[in-house]
Amino acid sequence: MKKQILVVGGCGYIGTHMVKALLDAGYEVLTLDNLSTGHREFLPGGQFVFGDIRDSALLDKVFTGHTINAVMHFAALIEVRESVKLPLKYYQNNVSATINLLDAMARHNVDKFIFSSSAAVYGEPEYIPLDENHPCRPTNPYGRTKLMIEEVLSDTARTGKIKYTALRYFNAAGADNSGTIGENHTPESHLIPLVLQVALGKRDNITIFGSDHDTPDGTCIRDYVHVNDLAQAHLLALKALENGITKAAYNLGTSRGYSVLDVIKTARKITTNTIPARQAEKRQGDPAVLVASSEKAKKELGWHPQYENLDAIIESAWKWHQKQMIPNDATTG
Ligand SMILES: NC(=O)c1ccc[n+]([C@@H]2O[C@H](COP(=O)([O-])OP(=O)(O)OC[C@H]3O[C@@H](n4cnc5c(N)ncnc54)[C@H](O)[C@@H]3O)[C@@H](O)[C@H]2O)c1
Repeated sequence: MKKQILVVGGCGYIGTHMVKALLDAGYEVLTLDNLSTGHREFLPGGQFVFGDIRDSALLDKVFTGHTINAVMHFAALIEVRESVKLPLKYYQNNVSATINLLDAMARHNVDKFIFSSSAAVYGEPEYIPLDENHPCRPTNPYGRTKLMIEEVLSDTARTGKIKYTALRYFNAAGADNSGTIGENHTPESHLIPLVLQVALGKRDNITIFGSDHDTPDGTCIRDYVHVNDLAQAHLLALKALENGITKAAYNLGTSRGYSVLDVIKTARKITTNTIPARQAEKRQGDPAVLVASSEKAKKELGWHPQYENLDAIIESAWKWHQKQMIPNDATTG
């Protein structure tokens, strides 16, 4: 019998790629999503339940009506700047709601959990590349919601009620090569989709925040990891939980950093569009460099990211963006 995985937040950017990877790997998939930021029309397959993980009665129904082998949890609010303005909204949706989900899992004896954590748990880097031993001192409510859940998971794992992996993604990017699923956040705040929206004429220019960071070209450096490589890491994490891992956190990045200017130049080459850029002040709290060491995931999970260069990542995203009519949003950029 096929194992059934509950994918919470499976209608979002990373969730849709996960659902596709699970289906391709032969799992049955049940997606639960409240569609607050997700898109039902992009769900690649499997069963779908519309709803919110804060709804305990619904969760009881889901766990009673299906034999769930493991839960993959992508459902969260993800806007760092919004989390500073509306912290309670973030603690509600990312912390309380996740505890509600874990509680429902405990009631129904489902014990395998894979959590979408984030590089945001680390805060200002003390050294680069960041490994999992780096101190966790998040600098905003969004990052704190992720760290809080990692702590909840660690305490719960100690009781034997749950086995988990927390996967700390760096900058998720790119799209499945089919061009049928991809990044579609509203508002969009991620660099690659914003740059491609300029190439599509959806916005006038791309804003570069700060040109005097302590980096070779003065712009921020980030570690872009392809969304399908993230999905593959989840499949390996699931195997690891089945094979006896009870608690672990892993960085997921490529260990290569690219600057904002690198991204813009690469996008200009791939799209053959001039992509006008404008300079703006540095944003407070933006670290100059965030690059992962993913040695632990490579060694312990056997993870081997396939997309290690920026061209391939942007090419895959461009394929998807050309197919979309993404609404212009003047509030970011
Ligand atoms: N995108 C990145 O670069 C990145 C980096 C690090 C970590 N993450 C984490 O990865 C996960 C997925 O990110 P994404 O970019 O795919 O975001 P997304 O907004 O595209 O997807 C989130 C999905 O969860 C659903 N959702 C939100 N709250 C819900 C709730 N209470 N009940 C049910 N469904 C709910 C949304 O409708 C959406 O479909 C998040 O947990 C995010 O914090 C993302």
